Amino acid sequence: MKFKKKILGIGAGYVGGPSMVMIASKCPDYRVTVVDVNPERIAAWNSDRLPVYEPGLDAIVKKTRGRNLFFSTDVEAQIQDNDIIFVCVNTPTKTFGAGAGMAADLQYWEKTARQILENAKSPKIVIEKSTLPIKTAQAMERILSSGNKKITFDVLSNPEFMAEGTAVSDLENPDRVLIGSRETKSGLAARAQLVEIYTRWLPREKIITSNIWSAELSKLVANAFLAQRVSSINSISALCEKADADVSEVAHAVGTDSRIGSKFLKAGIGFGGSCFKKDILNLVYLCRFYGLPEVASYWESVVRINEYQQDRFIANILQSMFNTLAGKKICVLGFAFKADTGDTRESPAISITRKLLAERAEVVITDPQALANAAVDLAQEKGNIRYVEDPYEAARGCHALAVMTDWEEYRKLDYRKIYKSMVKPAFLFDGRNIVDRRKCFEIGFNVFSIGKPALTRY
Ligand code: UDX
Ligand code: ADP
Repeated sequence: MKFKKKILGIGAGYVGGPSMVMIASKCPDYRVTVVDVNPERIAAWNSDRLPVYEPGLDAIVKKTRGRNLFFSTDVEAQIQDNDIIFVCVNTPTKTFGAGAGMAADLQYWEKTARQILENAKSPKIVIEKSTLPIKTAQAMERILSSGNKKITFDVLSNPEFMAEGTAVSDLENPDRVLIGSRETKSGLAARAQLVEIYTRWLPREKIITSNIWSAELSKLVANAFLAQRVSSINSISALCEKADADVSEVAHAVGTDSRIGSKFLKAGIGFGGSCFKKDILNLVYLCRFYGLPEVASYWESVVRINEYQQDRFIANILQSMFNTLAGKKICVLGFAFKADTGDTRESPAISITRKLLAERAEVVITDPQALANAAVDLAQEKGNIRYVEDPYEAARGCHALAVMTDWEEYRKLDYRKIYKSMVKPAFLFDGRNIVDRRKCFEIGFNVFSIGKPALTRY
């Protein structure tokens, strides 16, 4: 079959995989190829067990794979053979050298830019999909124009706003799609090609076009604003606990003001995920770099409150359980950074489990999707950790339950049955405010929620 356009996604991770799958599904006359340096990842995308768990994704892959969607490890040949290239490689926080712990590590991204330059034999549109520091497109352009080749490269910024667990519906029906480009003749022509792809399934009004720097910055700012709302409500949860107020009631009262809005006001043990912390730290680093220390410290406080919330959670467990956890068994209910994903990157459950182990508690971890990742995250930890799939088995013989992930099934567990199998007095620390706290208190638990008065028997 002759395809109308040939599109490549470099990086078959959480961003690249689902976004390329969606384009293939909506544009059957375009050929979409996804490449990755990691052969196991590609093998998984070609198998029945995809490397990314997203509701609805399997069905779309089944429909498109082998038709107009292909997965390959041959990065170089695919660069040659495709006209439109989405760069979706990972940009983690730097762990070494200048900016360690703050700045984005751009090594994978730069390697990709050089690979594109080396292998291109015809004009390419290169699209930044990964979240990147502002002005990365400029660096990309400089690398791409550094060769002797007389090939034009147009760099666009098209940041991805999908959230994990809802990737398919976010991609199918996003609030908006953002496309930034140079405002030159060639930049605008490249932008029009990308707009054409998205208008296959979205109305034109949903596609926002802007200059390239605004697009790059908007992605960081959107994530910073979302994380800031979570830290804002979490900071208020600490005050609620002191003042006998209920943070859910406060969030509801505040969020019904249409100027504020009700979303992202759920108090809990803090935000996780691969984006929020990384992107805020990146923003902080950029502000410092540009000589804006006040702006930097304003945004840094969002991350600090997130850490404070986890410290508070552990301090509360320790204090409520008679100031010692040594030898006690704690069941960690949920390890993913949020429900409906197996992803544990930056999950608050990681730091909380480490703190429990530091207190010499025995930790039993259960999660419907994330146990394999949890075992990798905690591989270096010393101490007694067990991984148990069945939540009832996990809780058996424990002194306390600590809810870390808002899995729907944890709302519906038979807490009476669980209570019966636990050591008494039994404690329930609900880090996501999902259990029926009054009912659990009536069953016999001492119940500690976030931002609500504790329900205890002593
Ligand atoms: C986020 C952005 O939402 C998305 O637009 C961007 O593309 C990537 O980063 P994601 O990390 O998948 O997506 O998850 P999100 O749903 O935003 O949740 C992030 C964290 O905040 C989770 O740990 C979640 O539990 C926490 N959260 C969210 C709260 O604690 N309270 C809330 O009210 C909302
Ligand atoms: P994200 O959440 O941003 O999608 P992931 O880590 O899930 O991040 O995915 C990024 C993917 O990019 C990984 O599978 C990694 O192997 C891949 N990758 C990194 N560098 C390159 C490269 N130079 N060429 C191809 N793939 C790459």
